[in-house]
Amino acid sequence: MNEAVVRRAAVLVAEAQRIVVLTGAGISTDSGIPDFRGPNGLWTRDPDAEKASDIRFYLADADLRRRAWARRAAGTLWATVAPNAGHRALVSLETNGKLDVLVTQNVDELHQLAGSDPARVIEIHGTTRKAACLDCGTRWPMEKILDRVRAGEDDPRCEECDGIVKSATVSFGQSLVAADLLAAEEATRRCDLLLAVGTSLQVYPVNNLVPLASQAGAQVVIVNAEPTPMDQYAAAIVRGSISEVLPMIVGAEGGTE
Ligand code: APR
Ligand code: ZN
Repeated sequence: MNEAVVRRAAVLVAEAQRIVVLTGAGISTDSGIPDFRGPNGLWTRDPDAEKASDIRFYLADADLRRRAWARRAAGTLWATVAPNAGHRALVSLETNGKLDVLVTQNVDELHQLAGSDPARVIEIHGTTRKAACLDCGTRWPMEKILDRVRAGEDDPRCEECDGIVKSATVSFGQSLVAADLLAAEEATRRCDLLLAVGTSLQVYPVNNLVPLASQAGAQVVIVNAEPTPMDQYAAAIVRGSISEVLPMIVGAEGGTE
């Protein structure tokens, strides 16, 4: 890890008053949740898996839905994952009054579990802790649907309209919630620092927040193990493990477990 770059990033954060943080799957890997495009990412290891997260396949293929529900119902990941020092570092940024909005592409709700104020978190790609009907939009806690799967319904339908049910995440082919994207863009336009953490910045339109911040005159800091297509906008690029370096950058005490 390059101490000089960490120090530079820490100075930029210390000087900023109104920070927008954009997080991706990389902040949750130290909690045991694999990312998508990193060296051991889900898409890296199984390109087909990316297809399964495309809404067109989910709608057309009942077997794909049954396998997805069975995996989720049998899994214990979501019940056992916990926030790490990276998530907690962002809570301290909020406690210090510097965080305006936390835009996360993650669907694990670990920011809220770590103590980030839900009113400041924009889950721009939804959440896996809830399920939604793809026809009428009715939503349930994910556990309620999984109880139905465990009781034998292998492709649970909406109780209101018999529509297909899916986790309340935004899959490829689905549009983002317009109000969420607008709020993220407005926050980015008024911020003085955009801090992108653990995201490969390859997915539009969220990755566009980086040039938007830069054009609005904000500084950009990227904390990521690998290069991103948005590195050109960054005043500081910190390579290193997020749960280790992020506490140092935001001036969080300690930062160890
Ligand atoms: N420390 C630093 N960087 C890390 C760490 C870590 N501990 N773990 C992973 N990374 C980096 C990886 O090198 C990778 O560049 O985090 C980045 C994660 O990038 P992606 O896997 O592409 O995840 P993300 O950017 O969140 O993907 C965006 O794409 O698949 C869709 O909807 C999904 O929200 C997701 C979106
Ligand atoms: Zn419905």
